[in-house]
Amino acid sequence: MTGNIFDPNFGKQTPPEAPMVNGKASPANPVHPPGNSQTAGGVSPPRIIELRNIGQVYGQGDKAHVVFGNFTLSIPDIPGRGQFITIMGPSGCGKSTILRYISGLQNPTSGDILIGNAPRDPGKSVPMVFQQYSNFEWKSVLRNVMLPLELQGVDKTEAEARAREMLKIVGLADHADKYAKYPNLSGGQLQRVAIARSLVVNPSILLMDEPFGALDVKTRREMQDFLRTIFEAQEDMTVILVTHSESEAVFLSDHVVVLNANPATIVANIPIDLPAVRDGAARNDSAFEHYVAQIRKALSY
Ligand SMILES: Nc1ncnc2c1ncn2[C@@H]1O[C@H](COP(=O)(O)OP(=O)(O)OP(=O)(O)O)[C@@H](O)[C@H]1O
Ligand SMILES: [Mg+2]
Repeated sequence: MTGNIFDPNFGKQTPPEAPMVNGKASPANPVHPPGNSQTAGGVSPPRIIELRNIGQVYGQGDKAHVVFGNFTLSIPDIPGRGQFITIMGPSGCGKSTILRYISGLQNPTSGDILIGNAPRDPGKSVPMVFQQYSNFEWKSVLRNVMLPLELQGVDKTEAEARAREMLKIVGLADHADKYAKYPNLSGGQLQRVAIARSLVVNPSILLMDEPFGALDVKTRREMQDFLRTIFEAQEDMTVILVTHSESEAVFLSDHVVVLNANPATIVANIPIDLPAVRDGAARNDSAFEHYVAQIRKALSY
């Protein structure tokens, strides 16, 4: 199956196409899904993220655990338009590993990770929000949000101004001087700090690994509404979210990619055709439950 999640033939059984290398057919190479092939003119379509022919094996011999065989996932770059993509799948199938590859926290056993059509720059990390609160607890909320700017060499006055602006956006302006730890801040507020710290550098990609998994149902919904609003306000940001909640995936996403395990395979790519500008009412849209059911079905394969 093609790994290009926006390929209209995604999910359909298609005959393997001739592999293309540098625009020429190459029988010696494994079949690339259409999303990885160069076009007839020799120009690759732009990709914001591409995991190409990924292999990840732990252990050896009889005990080898193949998390990824020849795994490919390709996300096109749509200039001027953000994308919200959610990855779902059974526990242990490799979702967090995919985020770690993109962020630069882990390298696969084999294969290529491309960001913006170029091999990922090991010197550049992509921000990631985790389920566990990942703030620097001994620093204030403000200092937490300033930190990535300071690491980029932005001077302190500008870093503080930008951090304060971001804290306003995430609704924490009045909490700037508190330590970024529980119970000084609630779980939802702590995740807002982590989101602010990620967004303050204007990332083109934001990774989120079950960011609301530890929150109660009401706070979780509020955070979903908040995240969708923040996403819509960004001009051109790709969010890759991992969640186990079908309704969270439907509410937030433009596309939901469903994996199965051992080794990970893409079993479904579900475009979510809800209004681009969403508020809580989108959950009552007649299509909402239909998408939830579609994801559940894909997850049960
Ligand atoms: N250092 C390691 N040694 C052996 N196996 C590992 C190691 N790191 C990860 N794995 C395995 O890789 C697989 C994928 O892990 P990953 O954390 O990506 O799963 P996941 O899909 O995020 O699961 P969950 O939904 O539970 O978070 C798991 O089966 C895990 O046991
Ligand atoms: Mg995980």
